[in-house]
Order: sequence, then C-alpha cells, then structure tokens
Amino acid sequence: MPLDSHALALEARQLFKSFGPVKAVAGVDLTLEPGAALGLLGPNGAGKSTTLSLLMGLRPADSGTVQVFGHPAGSPAARQMIGATPQSAGFPEQLTPRELLSYAAAHHRSARQIGALTEAFGLGALIDRRMTGFSGGEVRRVALALAFVGAPRLVFLDEPTTGLDSAAQDGFHAVARGFVAQGGAMVLTSHHWTEIETVCDRIMMIDKGERVLDGTLETIRARTRINRVQFDLPDGAAPPDWLAATASDQGWTAESDQSDRLLRRLIAEQVPFSNLTVRPMALKDIIARIRAKDPS
Ligand SMILES: Nc1ncnc2c1ncn2[C@@H]1O[C@H](COP(=O)(O)OP(=O)(O)OP(=O)(O)O)[C@@H](O)[C@H]1O
Ligand SMILES: [Mg+2]
Repeated sequence: MPLDSHALALEARQLFKSFGPVKAVAGVDLTLEPGAALGLLGPNGAGKSTTLSLLMGLRPADSGTVQVFGHPAGSPAARQMIGATPQSAGFPEQLTPRELLSYAAAHHRSARQIGALTEAFGLGALIDRRMTGFSGGEVRRVALALAFVGAPRLVFLDEPTTGLDSAAQDGFHAVARGFVAQGGAMVLTSHHWTEIETVCDRIMMIDKGERVLDGTLETIRARTRINRVQFDLPDGAAPPDWLAATASDQGWTAESDQSDRLLRRLIAEQVPFSNLTVRPMALKDIIARIRAKDPS
C-alpha cells in the first residue's frame, strides 16, 4: 500500500514537551481519520498551541511520535499535506493577500484557486490591497485562507475565529464543514463552545498538558441526558419543592433527565407557569458535570 493512502490522517503517540519546569504537553495520544474534525479544548496555558506545533512538526517533541498520513511530522511529504492558521499571524505588510497566497500556493504540488478562497473568506475588497493597516479580523481572514491554499488534506487551526465578526465566523464554519464533508481532516482549538459544536465531531480536552476528556460529541452528550426546564411564575408564586428549581434573571430553572414526566406533573398540579422552555443541557455544562464527577 502506498504511504499516501494511509488510513489515518494523524497519529500521535505519547507526546511530551516541557519548557524548563513547565510541562506544556504531558503524554498526549491522538488519532484522527480523514473526514473528521477534532476540537482541542482547555483553559489558557493548557498546552493546546504547543500540542499543535508538535503535531505540525514545527518544533520537536521531547519524546513521542507524530505521523501525518504515515509520514513523520515535519517531513517534506507531511508538510505537503497540511495547512495551518497559527494563533497569531504577522504578514509582511508590503504584500497583498493575493501575492501572499500565490507565494504559499507555489510551495504546494496542488493548490486551490485564489478566487475561490477570496470568495470563501470574504476577501474580495482586500485581495489586491497591501496589508498595511489591515484590521485584526482582516488579517485573520487572510490567515485562514492561507491554511487552505495548498489544497491540504489535514488542517490545524489555532483559535480560527478569534476577532472575526459574526458573518465571517459563519463563513468560516461553512468552509470548515465543507472541507470535512469532502474528506478533509481538521484539528482546531477554540474557546467558543458553539464553534466546537458547529464544526467538530470529536473533542479532546487537555489541562496542564494532559488529556482529561476525549470522545465524540455524541458519546459525551449521551453520558448526561439532562434537560434544562425554564419558566416564569406569577409574582409571589413559588415552584413546588419536589422540583428543586432555582431562581435567576431568566426566571425559574430546573434540571431533569426525565423532563417529560416533570412537565406532566407540573400540569397535573396546576402550577401556573408561563414562557416554559425545555432545552438540552449545553455541552459546556455537560463537560463540567462529567469532570466534576470524574476529575481524572
Ligand atoms: N516557547 C515557550 N517558552 C516557554 N514556555 C512556553 C513556550 N510556549 C509555551 N509555553 C508554556 O507552555 C504552556 C502551554 O502553552 P500553550 O501556548 O500551549 O497553551 P494554550 O493551551 O495554547 O493556551 P491559550 O488558550 O492561552 O492559547 C504555558 O504555560 C506556556 O506559558
Ligand atoms: Mg494557544
């Protein structure tokens, strides 16, 4: 079997990286198939950007191995297959985005059309302007286009939508989903839960360089099937004690893994609720609950 048809887009084993006394990455294992998007989560300083730099082969790990479609990370063959947007990008200001993208495209055997990228990332009015004076969000859009210009099969995106307005975020999410739907593999870091839920099918949470939670969104959600029931009550009315509801600016809130039964009982007891909503618990809260139960 030729190496290029390797089944795994990414295979990392026991990665370690320290900076002096700081253990930035401490024993990360990770595999990713083509057509899958992995969200790397964790607090500031958890080791996400360092993990990405090891996976991309930008810096050597202290120990451990990384293979990209069967090629060692950092090798010319691996580099041909990847695209990346770093957490912060500084580009030569005397260049235009078109020049920068063309320059990057020239380093790849196959490349995307600059026109398609211009459209995908809303660069129309900017593509032939020197980057002097580009706003933060404009630089970010160029950086995102850069990740895709080499027709990569695997992209690494470090906080891709930081500083983007909501239309540009939506545009990026559409591009990201399309890329994965066509068989691309993606690793992205983000502090935005809705972004993770929109783009990723798998997440890995790290803290102090260690993996603390890993799985598909589906299996993680299935671990805690809790709905959040919210409603208003007339002034002076209190919810029944059995509901264990709490008051907030949004009215009364109760949580239950049997919300249908809860609603039937509220109606049977003629509790005078209004504006009632039932929503699945947010992913962020599900993860907080799983970690509180099993902090390892
Ligand atoms: N070049 C470096 N020299 C020294 N320490 C570093 C270096 N790069 C990273 N670190 C440290 O390693 C740890 C992990 O940093 P990293 O940038 O990977 O975190 P992160 O999860 O990406 O955080 P953020 O959400 O803030 O981007 C931090 O404690 C950081 O200070
Ligand atoms: Mg980072």
